[in-house]
Amino acid sequence: MTQKTVTWNKSSWQNYTALQQPKWPDQEKFNQVIESISALPPLVFAGEIRELKKLLAKAVNGDAFLLQGGDCSEEFANCTAPNIRETLKVLLQMAVILTYAGGKPVVKVGRIAGQYAKPRSSDTEVVDGVEIPSYRGDMANSIEPAEEARIPDPERMLKGYYLSASTLNLLRAFTRGGFAALHRVHAWNQEFVKQSPMGRSYERLANQLSQALDFMETIGISTDIPQLKQAQFFTSHEALFLGYEEALTRQDSTTGDWYDCSAHMLWIGDRTRQIDGAHIEFLRGVLNPLGMKIGPKHDIDDILAIIEKLNPENEPGRISLITRFGAKGIEQYLPQLIRAMKKEGHHVVWTCDPMHANTFTATSGHKTRNFDDILAELRCFFEIHWSEGTVPGGVHFELTGNNVTECVGGARQLVDDQLSEKYLTTCDPRLNAEQSLEMAFQISEMIRR
Ligand code: PEP
Ligand code: CO
Repeated sequence: MTQKTVTWNKSSWQNYTALQQPKWPDQEKFNQVIESISALPPLVFAGEIRELKKLLAKAVNGDAFLLQGGDCSEEFANCTAPNIRETLKVLLQMAVILTYAGGKPVVKVGRIAGQYAKPRSSDTEVVDGVEIPSYRGDMANSIEPAEEARIPDPERMLKGYYLSASTLNLLRAFTRGGFAALHRVHAWNQEFVKQSPMGRSYERLANQLSQALDFMETIGISTDIPQLKQAQFFTSHEALFLGYEEALTRQDSTTGDWYDCSAHMLWIGDRTRQIDGAHIEFLRGVLNPLGMKIGPKHDIDDILAIIEKLNPENEPGRISLITRFGAKGIEQYLPQLIRAMKKEGHHVVWTCDPMHANTFTATSGHKTRNFDDILAELRCFFEIHWSEGTVPGGVHFELTGNNVTECVGGARQLVDDQLSEKYLTTCDPRLNAEQSLEMAFQISEMIRR
């Protein structure tokens, strides 16, 4: 028997230190909520999780490409049909652009239906001269800048569960019920984007696809098939609040294996991946595909040891490394990491998050990111992998389908002064729909067959 089967269970993380947990003021209430969630149905199913892992295994070799994206921090108040639809639409558009250019399946994974928990660099923040607890995501406390509103409330986890279920329900309806059919590729283009250069480029691509579908029909090939009528779409979030994750961890009746059924894919944040910490302990025992964020402050031997612990069998598709070094840091950090991984023969999906290490404060005082820095990190990511002989297997974005003004630059050259026009994020700045499309077109130049 391996050590894992001897010691791991879904609660064993409780014997380790868990960083970044809200300080729930009432333990009894917390326990009651966890008990309620434990009795509720799983949000996703083991078979779906296994399916995603198979697709990610293909991305390890370059036979598929991972597109992961969504809000930095989902908000309860934004759990509405239009918001869910717009996020899905922009991801579907990006996926079409990338599939067409790359000639390989694009695995679509949303930061959605549960991305309600946030790690913070500080426990408190100062608002109007008063120090109050930091916002830790809608599943912990409220963004409202008041002491009272920032006290964590476990009931919020229950609400997060139900809203995740509602979101998933709509996503399933959209992706299975015809909305995501390739025949509707034109309909995903948004009104406010249509007239932009990006919107027009997308229209041209959509026309080509429609013509190809018409051609198939004309010569008698049926396009009434699931591959064209439905989309495969998966969910993900940072596995942060371990009580919640444990409550949704279930044993698959067909295999006896354990899965965290709060989402298909879970990732470990850059701040919570301590080898002897609770997050690694918890995640090593669930069989979901796992992402791991790696920022500039990492130790290569430590990363190797974590991977060994999370994926002792070296199963392809289990681990995606999401590097986030910044446009200025990537050349310093990525090549060494790649070489160390190659030496050990670890099978991983190499993914780039070009958002998190390119954040800065604009002259207007807003936390922002520059489109050009994001693009520069991505370009380096591809170039470094090509020169090292490894596979750039995916990208990870904070984005929204809405017309926000949170990141500067892009084709419209959004400037600092415009940030306040529609700066809606409660956490990190996201690419808007048009910037997201532009990013996809840029990447398509890098992955072109
Ligand atoms: C995030 O993805 O929102 C996040 C907090 O990332 P990281 O752990 O890389 O800082
Ligand atoms: Co973020």
